[in-house]
Amino acid sequence: MTKKKILFVCLGNICRSPAAEGIMYGFIKSEGLENQIEVDSAGTMGYHTGEKADPRMRKHASQRGYDLTSLARRFNPEKDFSNFDYIVTMDNQNYEDVISMDRKYEYSFKVSKMAQFCKTHKVNEVPDPYYSGSEGFENVLDILEDGCKNLLTKIKDEFK
Ligand code: 4NP
Repeated sequence: MTKKKILFVCLGNICRSPAAEGIMYGFIKSEGLENQIEVDSAGTMGYHTGEKADPRMRKHASQRGYDLTSLARRFNPEKDFSNFDYIVTMDNQNYEDVISMDRKYEYSFKVSKMAQFCKTHKVNEVPDPYYSGSEGFENVLDILEDGCKNLLTKIKDEFK
């Protein structure tokens, strides 16, 4: 069985997408699927390349048992479009930015929005928490747990 690879994408790759990566990895680990599903994250801008996730996001995530270990990197259209099976963007701007890098419309079928996997949260995007207080980070984690849970169910169904 070939491994499925998920890439989460936000703007800076220090708040939303590393949190999505950590949450999804936590779910994958608790189901023993580490050999079947791989996760990574990236940002559409490179200002924070090499940095750990924002300390506020790491703190809120760790309170829920998620360890965010990834270092920020910029989305690389040359490699990421072909390498990943699911490219899951956080907000509508991230989605448009990623789609616009798929110049020949070869990979757009892989690109989705996290909000479309949410069931308990009626949202159309994962809002940027960077300039918010604690409640913004908690809200992002709530949305991501909802979306990741349903995305994982969908991917597991595709293995069947
Ligand atoms: P993220 O949040 O896209 O969820 O990582 C942001 C991080 C940094 C900035 C904006 C959003 N920034 O402007 O530096």
